[in-house]
Amino acid sequence: MSERTHRDFLAIPDFSAAELVALFELAERMRNGAYAKTPLAGKTLAMIFMKASTRTRVSFEVGTYQLGGHALFLSPRDVQLGRGEPIADTARVLSRYVDGIMIRTFAHQDVEELAKYADVPVINGLTDLLHPCQILADLLTVRQHLGGYEGKKVAWIGDGNNMANSWINAAYRLGFELAIAAPEGYEPADHLLERAKGHAKITLTRDPKEAIEGAHVVNTDVWASMGQEDEQKKRERDFAGFTVNAKLMKRAADDAIFLHCLPAHRGEEVTADVIDGPQSRVWDEAENRLHIQKAIMAVLMGGESL
Ligand code: CP
Ligand code: NVA
Repeated sequence: MSERTHRDFLAIPDFSAAELVALFELAERMRNGAYAKTPLAGKTLAMIFMKASTRTRVSFEVGTYQLGGHALFLSPRDVQLGRGEPIADTARVLSRYVDGIMIRTFAHQDVEELAKYADVPVINGLTDLLHPCQILADLLTVRQHLGGYEGKKVAWIGDGNNMANSWINAAYRLGFELAIAAPEGYEPADHLLERAKGHAKITLTRDPKEAIEGAHVVNTDVWASMGQEDEQKKRERDFAGFTVNAKLMKRAADDAIFLHCLPAHRGEEVTADVIDGPQSRVWDEAENRLHIQKAIMAVLMGGESL
């Protein structure tokens, strides 16, 4: 393998706090139309999707195009990875053709393996462990609507899943308060919680009312993530009482915003009046995926500096 001259984005702590702020500012310039460069001209992004996607696929594909480049959609039905070609071989071969690889898959180790053997930047588009692009889009939405995350309380109500884990990583890097309410057996990753301790105030409770009290940002996600469809019924029982509804939202700060990465199951983790109500910012949140990922690609693949 040649000398490593590129960087990957597999997890939020891959960027320093200062770099994250610069990334938000770059994404905001892109959102405001103040960025007209095409740093991906002549470049190609390979997008490997081992799981379904609407937002991630479309925002990366459109974002690459807007930056002057080209994106390839690779699903397991079409590429040999789906028939057992090793990840390391896929990484080495794709690196001979493309300038960056985005991957959405199951095991986080697979993304690390891909990054280890690729000679081009690798971007994590969701694993069972993390969803870093989404949480950066969420933080961009918090900056957009609350002016910043400093001094704010973020409440996570629900499964200690890839989203919750990435919120922990964000709190670890940026130091805001994070209150997590998860049922027993559905806690976020211990090693991430341990690492974040001492860098941010992070609390873990079984009581959604306690976590949401005074929160400025209220965030939830589906109870059964991709790959857990078989557990849907059991999870519906185990997550009873964790629905974010209007009554629960009343305990949050008056100017609190509601976020959800989508897709959402109305009537399960959130009621329709909340996700479709005045405090919801989910459409801006979805839009911000485009801006933050363009910023990430411009930096990792297009030579843009932070
Ligand atoms: N939020 C998100 O990642 O959506 P998709 O699964 O549609 O990409
Ligand atoms: N936690 C969800 C997020 C989907 C964007 C999942 O992994 O399916």
